[in-house]
Amino acid sequence: MPHLLPLLLLLLCLPVYGQGPAARHERPLPPDTTAWLDTEGRYINAHGGGILLHKGTYYWFGEHRPERGFATTEGINCYSSRDLKNWKHRGIALSVCTTDTLSEISRGCIMERPKVLYNEETRQFVMWFHLELRGRGYEAARAGVAVADRPEGPYHFVRSTRVNPGQWPLNMPAENRTRQFPAEEVKEWWTPQWRQAVEQGLFVQRDLQDGQMSRDMTLFQDPADGRAYHIYSSEENLTLHIAELSDNYLSHTGRYIRLFPGGHNEAPAIFHDPATSTYWLIASGCTGWEPNEARLFSAPSIWGPWQQHPSPMRGPGAKRTFGGQSTFILPLPAKQGGGWIFMADVWHPRSLMYSGHLWIPIRMNPETGMPEIERQKKKK
Ligand code: GAL
Repeated sequence: MPHLLPLLLLLLCLPVYGQGPAARHERPLPPDTTAWLDTEGRYINAHGGGILLHKGTYYWFGEHRPERGFATTEGINCYSSRDLKNWKHRGIALSVCTTDTLSEISRGCIMERPKVLYNEETRQFVMWFHLELRGRGYEAARAGVAVADRPEGPYHFVRSTRVNPGQWPLNMPAENRTRQFPAEEVKEWWTPQWRQAVEQGLFVQRDLQDGQMSRDMTLFQDPADGRAYHIYSSEENLTLHIAELSDNYLSHTGRYIRLFPGGHNEAPAIFHDPATSTYWLIASGCTGWEPNEARLFSAPSIWGPWQQHPSPMRGPGAKRTFGGQSTFILPLPAKQGGGWIFMADVWHPRSLMYSGHLWIPIRMNPETGMPEIERQKKKK
């Protein structure tokens, strides 16, 4: 318990319910908002994001979303803070390409859920994000990677790909590599035969040659050995994958596993609790911008075995994750008391730019050793 105190004090200082009316912003914020303002009084436009702590400064990367419309007009936004409370806008860290309409990141593409890691060996900052190509809706389902010499960027786009072409998941039984899925049995979705085929690797097989689909995603750097992993919704958003990144974090090694095939999990966020040597993963169901009940998984190793638990959300609003969808879990430095902050997006699909931010401390239940997340009561 004592280690929770600094975390709680910090969280009490965070602007979970928005900031004072004196601040300058684009338009009046709705009541009970989860909107946050930066140090200039402007709306924090960093959605589906994640945070990197580097040399005492937190860097928050997220989707810059337009006030109207859907596709990416600017790129990935960056804010920095030393106290997690006052966020300075550092500009667009990775910009869309405005000069070449054939570029994979040409303006009008969709960039989502960026996460950044620092690679100690190459001394580069490596950003991965979900990329959809301009004018093709969500069919491309690619992972993009970009690098920078400084945390705030500018990031230079390296490439975008599907994941691990030609490689089978480590935990897919060998007999499923050659299993036949008769078209008439699998053409209709959600039938019992179709579900079984998905579990057996219908879409892994289909996408083997070009690589696996990659949409909602996060990154995880294992504090134990510095190895990094890309965790993403694959197989038509039906199955999460965990894929190891290469030493320089710029590509995949070919080693990956499937998690709960057909479980329909997205918006993955992960942390490691050294006290119990457990990896904890929180995800959402797939209901687009609508909130749903969170899902919780744990494993003693990143490679599993993974098991599912009931949602860790507690109290009023828990059934719909308090209106939010997971995006990242921020570990706090041990010298500040440790612990983690669960970060979620409160989507406003009519004006995605105004989507809100919900940050809640994770409490580890001392009896069960399991995470619990409860939204604090609104301050008067
Ligand atoms: C959600 C997903 C978001 C975004 C959205 C588009 O399910 O978590 O990141 O892709 O769908 O409709």
